[in-house]
Amino acid sequence: MKRILVTGASGLLGLNFCTFFCQKHQLIGITNRTKLKGVLFQTVACDLLNEDPGEMLDRFKPDVALHCAALANIDECEKFPEKAAAINSIYPGRFASAARKRDIKFVHISTDAVFDGEDCGESGYKEDDTPNPVSRYAETKLQGEINVLDNDPEALIPRVNFYGWSTGGSRSLVEFFYNNLAAGNQVNGFRDVFFNTLYVHELADILDEMIGLNAGGIWHVFSAEHQSKYAFGVSVAEKFGFDPGLVRAVSWKDGGLTARRSPNLIMNTDKLQTLLGHELPGQQKCLDRFYQDTTAGLREQIRNCVCPNQERNENGNQDR
Ligand SMILES: NC(=O)c1ccc[n+]([C@@H]2O[C@H](COP(=O)([O-])OP(=O)(O)OC[C@H]3O[C@@H](n4cnc5c(N)ncnc54)[C@H](OP(=O)(O)O)[C@@H]3O)[C@@H](O)[C@H]2O)c1
Repeated sequence: MKRILVTGASGLLGLNFCTFFCQKHQLIGITNRTKLKGVLFQTVACDLLNEDPGEMLDRFKPDVALHCAALANIDECEKFPEKAAAINSIYPGRFASAARKRDIKFVHISTDAVFDGEDCGESGYKEDDTPNPVSRYAETKLQGEINVLDNDPEALIPRVNFYGWSTGGSRSLVEFFYNNLAAGNQVNGFRDVFFNTLYVHELADILDEMIGLNAGGIWHVFSAEHQSKYAFGVSVAEKFGFDPGLVRAVSWKDGGLTARRSPNLIMNTDKLQTLLGHELPGQQKCLDRFYQDTTAGLREQIRNCVCPNQERNENGNQDR
């Protein structure tokens, strides 16, 4: 059992990680505007930007700091670049420095969006390929990686992309497809945007494994398989018994998006597979597990973590 301080504990990744691992680890979840209720781990609400990371670490004395908090909405980052830089770039560097001084393992969550998605080569983007961010979000996340490694060269930086159930019910791509398809609405799915997305509980398992192995540096933590967002929508429809014909194949160029997106984010996971010594989950395995968790009531469990009288800070889907 480890004592893990998780920031962004009300977010899609943080809350699913904490809900999943609250029996295995001793968790302290930091939230900001969203107050959690009925969860089986300690929670503390604060704005990290008003919080000295050293004092926070001295107060909670974790073995590991898992930093999931971010401004992760791409369009919000375009609108509020200074806020995006503060939480996505500057704070992670300060947090990493404070963790290193206290010999606390620092884990900083980053993104596949650091690449421009123009040419990922035959085998997908590798960890040492040169990033080229195309949005403010991606720029600030890349600068976050640099600041973290400058301050703590042994920090672990997983680049990720994932889906699952969120408190507001519309944070991730799977929720966009599920909600619309369940209501019988036609939806657009990008046929020319590719990703190696992971179900968030598969991601949580791998992060836990990597922490156990004391991995450091940048890692691509993705599914072994890529697919288009259109194919993902169709597979969600098929799995849940909705009409796959409701998913319309369109180009992202016709999608009316505010910020530019990286279209071809096929990621190479060879380095991670060698470290772990086992296969990484494919798309079907992820979707099967998501389906099982949904039928077992995870959607409601996550939704019920939020106080009913509270306006949830709903970020919306970050990259449709
Ligand atoms: N979702 C994806 O597919 C995806 C893809 C690539 C990378 N990532 C990365 O994965 C990480 C987690 O993403 P997510 O989707 O779980 O994000 P999310 O659902 O948008 O949650 C963001 C979390 O950060 C917290 N937060 C934001 N500003 C804060 C502040 N000033 N002080 C304290 N807490 C603050 C939020 O707290 P409140 O809600 O309580 O205000 C929330 O818990 C991020 O680093 C993101 O860049 C996500």
